Amino acid sequence: MVASRGVGVWHHRQELETETEQKVLDHAARIALIPGDGAGPEVMAEAVPLLDWARARGRRLEVERLPYGADHYLATGETLPEAAYAALRDGCDAILFGAVGDPRVPDGRHAEEILLRLRQGLELMVNFRPCRPLPGLQREGLWLEVYRENTEGAYCLQGSTEPGRAVDLAVHTEPAVRRLLEAAFARARARSCPLTLAHKANVLKHGHGLWVRVFQELCAAHPGVTARGMHADALLCALVQDPSPFGVIAADNYLGDLISDLTAAFAGGMGTAPSLSWAPHRPFRCAVLAEPVHGSAPDIAGKGLANPVGMILSTALLFRHLGWESEALAVEAAVAAAMASGARTRDLGGSLSTSDMGTAIRGHLPG
Ligand code: NAD
Ligand code: IPM
Ligand code: MN
Repeated sequence: MVASRGVGVWHHRQELETETEQKVLDHAARIALIPGDGAGPEVMAEAVPLLDWARARGRRLEVERLPYGADHYLATGETLPEAAYAALRDGCDAILFGAVGDPRVPDGRHAEEILLRLRQGLELMVNFRPCRPLPGLQREGLWLEVYRENTEGAYCLQGSTEPGRAVDLAVHTEPAVRRLLEAAFARARARSCPLTLAHKANVLKHGHGLWVRVFQELCAAHPGVTARGMHADALLCALVQDPSPFGVIAADNYLGDLISDLTAAFAGGMGTAPSLSWAPHRPFRCAVLAEPVHGSAPDIAGKGLANPVGMILSTALLFRHLGWESEALAVEAAVAAAMASGARTRDLGGSLSTSDMGTAIRGHLPG
């Protein structure tokens, strides 16, 4: 039997197959935690009690905390060891990730070898970044969702630096582009909202030319979806002026990275935006990656100033992915209720610490 599909505020999956969903229910979910660096562990500490709460409600899960991040790298020279990577790829249902990035590792090597390796190695090409402003914030009622390709484009890590010349390649492949766009079309159809492709095919004739070609094919295959491409520069101007006509925005890795920080600003800022990445061509329970949109926030890390909402809403997305719809909805409702009651960290004009905000949110969860 197919589990409840209540359209959660941050709902991302519309098409769960009965067969795969039953598979979901037949073993304890194996969830790996990678708190990472800076503010990552601080916000992760507010997500962990949600896992305990889900367990107390009868959800079956096993949690393993992994140490990978800058401290571990600096102490051991290890970023993400091969055996740990293989275990995450083959023996894990979901990864809950804080953030990576540390001023002591200026070349960001560990971030590449942990986070980008996971995104690319697990082929998590759909990165879903919803934006729904919370109660009491400006732009309440807005509902944007960015579908960002998450494995290639300008972030394919291919390039070179020579004297006086530097090259970063942007590689786009048709399978990844098609999978990302198919997910975005399915979502726009399910929401009956417009779909916009952000591109710069006027200049990036090859890579973004591929995006536009596949997009046009899918437009023809989905006549019911109101879809159009826009040059990304013009799109950004239109979004800042009035985001309300937009629904789903699809973009390559680089543009999606930029656009999703802008949409985070509509929803309260970097601290509030969640994300989930998955591999649409893999079985339902192949590991997914839930992580806030923000980074390690070195400027505020270690001070209890980070907003845990992005991390907590990412945990809700993870619950939804696992088929735990009632827990996903309850967490989202608890965040909304805490915000409605005026609970705020400093980034939103309040004075609550990270842990006080987590506690305030958990105070609105059902038993
Ligand atoms: P950032 O998202 O860490 O911070 C940008 C701004 O947003 C800062 O002013 C920060 O204080 C604020 N901010 C971020 N998270 C917040 C939160 N939870 N609550 C309140 N305010 C918050 O981006 P950055 O400064 O460009 O990057 C810092 C480091 O993080 C870099 O090493 C970068 O590479 C890395 N990074 C990692 C990820 C990730 O792990 N997914 C994402 C973005 C950046
Ligand atoms: C994000 C971050 C990462 C990205 C960086 C740290 C590689 O900005 O998750 O948005 O660009 O993907
Ligand atoms: Mn980013």
